[in-house]
Amino acid sequence: MTATQAATTTHPTTHQGILDFVTEVAAMTQPDRIHWVTGSDEEWTELTDTLVSTGTFTRLNPAIKPNSFYAASDPIDVARVEDRTYICSVDKRDAGPTNNWMDPEEMKTLMRGLYDGCMRGRTMYVIPFVMGHLEAEKPMFGIEITDSAYVTASMRVMARVGTAVLERMTELDAEFVPALHSVGMPLEPGQDDVAWPCSDTKYIVQFPEERAIWSFGSGYGGNALLGKKCYALRIASVMARDEGWLAEHMLILKLTSPQGVVKYIAAAFPSACGKTNLAMLQPTIPGWKVETLGDDIAWMRIGEDGRLWAVNPEYGFFGVAPGTNEHTNPNAMRTINKGNSVFTNVALTEDGDIWWEGLENPPARATSWKGEPWTPDSPELSSHANSRYCTPIKQCDILAAEYDDPRGVPIDAILFGGRRKTTVPLVFEARDWTHGTFLGATLSSETTAAAVGAVGVVRRDPMAMLPFIGYNAGDYFNHWISVGKENDAAKLPKIFYVNWFRRDDEGGFLWPGFGENSRVLKWVVERIEGQAAAVETPIGHVPTPESLDTDGLDMTPQALAAALAVDVDEWKAEIPQIQEWFEKFGDDLPAVLWTELDGLRARLGE
Ligand code: PEP
Ligand code: MN
Ligand code: NA
Repeated sequence: MTATQAATTTHPTTHQGILDFVTEVAAMTQPDRIHWVTGSDEEWTELTDTLVSTGTFTRLNPAIKPNSFYAASDPIDVARVEDRTYICSVDKRDAGPTNNWMDPEEMKTLMRGLYDGCMRGRTMYVIPFVMGHLEAEKPMFGIEITDSAYVTASMRVMARVGTAVLERMTELDAEFVPALHSVGMPLEPGQDDVAWPCSDTKYIVQFPEERAIWSFGSGYGGNALLGKKCYALRIASVMARDEGWLAEHMLILKLTSPQGVVKYIAAAFPSACGKTNLAMLQPTIPGWKVETLGDDIAWMRIGEDGRLWAVNPEYGFFGVAPGTNEHTNPNAMRTINKGNSVFTNVALTEDGDIWWEGLENPPARATSWKGEPWTPDSPELSSHANSRYCTPIKQCDILAAEYDDPRGVPIDAILFGGRRKTTVPLVFEARDWTHGTFLGATLSSETTAAAVGAVGVVRRDPMAMLPFIGYNAGDYFNHWISVGKENDAAKLPKIFYVNWFRRDDEGGFLWPGFGENSRVLKWVVERIEGQAAAVETPIGHVPTPESLDTDGLDMTPQALAAALAVDVDEWKAEIPQIQEWFEKFGDDLPAVLWTELDGLRARLGE
């Protein structure tokens, strides 16, 4: 298709900025067809039928998982590619030191070379989307252009997309984030497509000043569904810095006590550390209720009342499948069992259902994510460790009614957490906002399969945002500090740190986790209310064993003590690691964080 053809293709908007973006991309990438996404059910049917016919999707048994599909990716395209992800700010300093950087013009020249003709033989989908509510005071619009029907179908689950969004953009002549995506595999005339087109060459690029996203070569979630990590975290974090709000890698939940007292909690854990499970937790303690608002991203602003209000900008869950089951996350199971979902890199069973490691009732035979015959005796896993379900949030039975309120909910507590075998107790409370910022800035976790690379290595993952901070991380810490300084501390959320993953000497988990984490949430609420006891330790306020509700919990007093222990020697060993981490930031690290480290050192008796 030529540029003129693209321009004269009937298009459902008069928004000149959108038309220019579409025309320019079509001229560069030369698709065979342009499809403007409406978001209608007929379109979903057409898209999914196409995906079934090209072999990307296998329709699941409608009696078990209605309107749901199985997909297996190319084995080279299974996770976010952090080493291929760039923040191309004008000034290198604005990306550093935690991001890859290249000069924006140099990157554009390089990528224009890749995009040149890259959609030949394919359909170019134009997806109008909004992150957050269409009725928000300032709706956060985007246009994703992609040559992937898989991405188009998945975006419909994960974001509000289609005609209503485009009409509103047109009415408002709205600003939007242009987000360009290609799988990077053009088709020559007569060439057959493959089930999962992608490229060996991958780039996931954010241009923070322009608020633009260019992605090439991958069809995987976080690399390709550009509303999610690229926009709602990387680009939004830059907007948030400039406008005085926070875009964070956090779940949002509503907790109601037996007395009917409601608290809202946001929690930041790195990928594949249980955000989705906590967001949908089914409490084991009587009378407590959890409702979900979000499982991955929170946009938070100070409201007129001085409190921190959070919304979930997303519309679906893109959850890690392995380990999800009726015990670990019954609410997620109920959500996906309603259908209308896409499962990627799990196993396909003979009756047309899906299975993954950790799910109940292993099938006698299945097809693995690699397309090979699999049985419970097979040495290989049936599903990739980062296999995913993609399912509509509206299907979640415990979705809080406030999800639909564009103002969001006022946050009472923020939890930071990671996956640590040692050192970090089950829960402790920061002394104040600045100390909480220090805890967030030094958050550490063992790496998981959610990103390409080694698994199980301890790395610092500040606020669980290491792969998602769209600007200089020193400035990001400073932004957090200033939120504390510029607002009334009494109205801000209290900050806590949790670790569900501490191990005993035999390597077993000390804390049962999952639904039992409601006991920790209860302690958090009682701390906020000034009711629960705590001991002041060098690292913060740790529960006394009696202050934690352990009624009916199958755990020895020794194990509980070990879960809550603050071992001074273990913490002394953290100090040089934190020191080394802070030194990376040079003069960009806020001085108060050094003061916090000095304080910790002194309290440990160093
Ligand atoms: C992803 O990687 O696509 C994703 C949704 O995020 P995470 O790795 O945080 O689970
Ligand atoms: Mn995430
Ligand atoms: Na991931």
